[in-house]
Amino acid sequence: MKVDIITIFPRMVEAGLAEGVVGRARTSGLIDIAVHNLRDFTTDKHHVVDDVPFGGGPGMVMKPEPFFAALAHIREHRGVPDAVVMLTPAGTPLTQAGARRLVGVSHIVLLCGRYEGIDERVREALATEELSIGDYVLSGGEIAALAVVDAVARLVPGVVGDEQSVDGDSFTRGLLDYPHYTRPAEYEGRQVPGVLLSGHHGEIRRWRRQAALERTVERRPELLADAALDADEHEWLSKRSKS
Ligand code: ADE
Repeated sequence: MKVDIITIFPRMVEAGLAEGVVGRARTSGLIDIAVHNLRDFTTDKHHVVDDVPFGGGPGMVMKPEPFFAALAHIREHRGVPDAVVMLTPAGTPLTQAGARRLVGVSHIVLLCGRYEGIDERVREALATEELSIGDYVLSGGEIAALAVVDAVARLVPGVVGDEQSVDGDSFTRGLLDYPHYTRPAEYEGRQVPGVLLSGHHGEIRRWRRQAALERTVERRPELLADAALDADEHEWLSKRSKS
């Protein structure tokens, strides 16, 4: 999978890509990520990337020309991308299903905005989609781009060592994750649930499924509509709603 990120803060983005799962995936060649400094695609002496908004109002707007030039550079040197994603709070909310879709896209460009936003013609002419990472406003698209790369990269086969760990993740079945414990079995008077020490794998699986379901019902009941539940889980839910 190939990703190109266009930003005015390349060091911030590189720092976020250097560690952990994504860092290892990059060094092992499982994902090819290039970070481009938008200022390198300006033609003026001061490398200006923003300008005042037409119609007036506060703040500055990112100029279109550097984005068009950066995209032209990427097409020439990295190939024609399959998707050009603009990060914006006005975009489609990123979900686990959205991350699974993007892992099937071989070459993605991520456009990071700053200031009041990016000139609308960039969205019209270059972007194939817009993504938001949540209903809050960040001061730029960089952290959102890192979130997208992280969520997608860990789904690339081989990137997360233990594939079962990805399969068991929160949201893989559309449910929140169950609680996790490690040693010691008792810590400051708090016990690990006995079933997890029992060695009964069937019982442990049941306990975890039920705990995941319970958490989801309590915290995010709206997720249940799209969750992949088995017959036991449906029965447990209907019993719970009657009690
Ligand atoms: N840029 C600023 N806020 C954002 C958000 N919530 N999601 C994606 N990009 C953004």
